[in-house]
Amino acid sequence: MISIRNVSKRFGPQVVLDRVSLEIEAGKATAIVGPSGVGKSVLLKLIMGIMDPDEGEILVCGENITRARSEHEKNEIRAQLGVLFQSAALFDSLTVYENIAFPVEQRFSLAKEQVHKKVIDTACSLSLERYLLSYPEEIPMGVRKRVGLARALIMEPSIFLFDEPNTGLDPVVGQEVYDLINHCRERWGFTGVVISHEIPEVFQVVDRVAMLLGGRVIECCSPEEFIRTSNLAVQQFMKGLTDGPIKIQ
Ligand SMILES: Nc1ncnc2c1ncn2[C@@H]1O[C@H](COP(=O)(O)OP(=O)(O)OP(=O)(O)O)[C@@H](O)[C@H]1O
Ligand SMILES: [Mg+2]
Repeated sequence: MISIRNVSKRFGPQVVLDRVSLEIEAGKATAIVGPSGVGKSVLLKLIMGIMDPDEGEILVCGENITRARSEHEKNEIRAQLGVLFQSAALFDSLTVYENIAFPVEQRFSLAKEQVHKKVIDTACSLSLERYLLSYPEEIPMGVRKRVGLARALIMEPSIFLFDEPNTGLDPVVGQEVYDLINHCRERWGFTGVVISHEIPEVFQVVDRVAMLLGGRVIECCSPEEFIRTSNLAVQQFMKGLTDGPIKIQ
C-alpha cells in the first residue's frame, strides 16, 4: 500500500534517513517507533510529499509521490491519505460542523444537503452530535482529536497516518484515542500508520512494528516478535534504559 524504497534524507551534514526501505501492507496497521529525533516525522512528511527525499522513492497505492511533477499531481495522490496531526490542527474560527464539512466542500462540488448528510453520518459514528455547534476551544482535547479524525475520515481515505496520536494526553484520554483508532479501523477499514514512542501501549492498535534507529529500519515484525526480540537496541528502547547501543543525545 505504501512502498518506501531506499529513501535517504539529509539536512546539511546530518543524515536522518539512510536508504530506508519499508513496505506498509494493505489493510494492516503499522507502528513506526524509535527515539526522539530519529526521523519518524520526517518519514511521515516524505510519505505525504510535503518533503522530498534526496534519494529513493515512495509509492502510495502504486502512485509515485516522489516523482509527482506538480502540486496538483501530489494532491491527487494525497487524496488517498488521511492524517491526524498531534494537535488535531482544527480551524479555531470554525465550528465543529464547519471543520468536518470543510474538506468535502473544498474538494467535491456536492449539494448542501449531500454535504450535510456526510457530516452528520461521520459525526454520529464518532459520537460528536452534541458538539457540532461548538468551537474547538470549547471542547476537551480528546473530543478535538475525534473532530480531527472526523474531518479526515469524511474523505474516506484508504490510508490513515497518525503522528503521535497520544502525546500530551492524560492516560485515560490517551486510551480513548487508541479505542477510537480500533473503532475507526473496523468501521472504515483503512490501512494505518501510527507514529509513536508509546511502547507497549501502541501495540494494541497495530499488526506490525517498524523501529527506526541511526537512519535505518532496525526491526520490522509483529508486536509479539518485537517484545521477544534479542536485538539489544530494541530491548533498550522498550525498557527505557539509558545504557545500551542507543546513545542519549
Ligand atoms: N526541516 C528541517 N530542517 C532541518 N532539520 C530537520 C528538519 N526537519 C527535521 N529535522 C531534523 O531531523 C531529525 C529528525 O526529526 P524528526 O522530527 O523526524 O524526529 P522524530 O523521530 O519525529 O522525533 P520526535 O519523537 O521527537 O517527534 C531531527 O534531528 C530534526 O532536527
Ligand atoms: Mg516526530
